[in-house]
Amino acid sequence: MDPTKDTLAAMAGKLLIGQFHRHVFLCVGEACCSGEVGMAAWEVLKNELKARNLSLATGPAACYRTKVGCLRVCAGGPILVVYPEGTWYMGMTADRIPRFVQEHLVDGNPIEDWVFARNPLPLPADGQSS
Ligand code: FES
Repeated sequence: MDPTKDTLAAMAGKLLIGQFHRHVFLCVGEACCSGEVGMAAWEVLKNELKARNLSLATGPAACYRTKVGCLRVCAGGPILVVYPEGTWYMGMTADRIPRFVQEHLVDGNPIEDWVFARNPLPLPADGQSS
């Protein structure tokens, strides 16, 4: 039997959906890096978010995390994107994740050397980027 809307709403509440200020997507697909490299980065991301109390948390740095199979860039991975800033990162191997979490997610300073694209949401009026 399919879960009811109330069941899913209760699950969302347990996950603190509605409390997050950011959402990080990390690609662990095999077209932009090996699955092993992607999963190693994912494990470090999970641990770093938990260690800094950013995951399943509230507050201005609260961050939801999702691993995905492809972000359609398919080169130079692991590819990672952070919303709502829409900051796209390349080469996010496990060794880079702690610095990313601290500087971008905690301090609010993207690491420009690793950023290759931007798509903030919502875009400024008329789709013009700043
Ligand atoms: S497999 Fe990672 S972006 Fe496509």
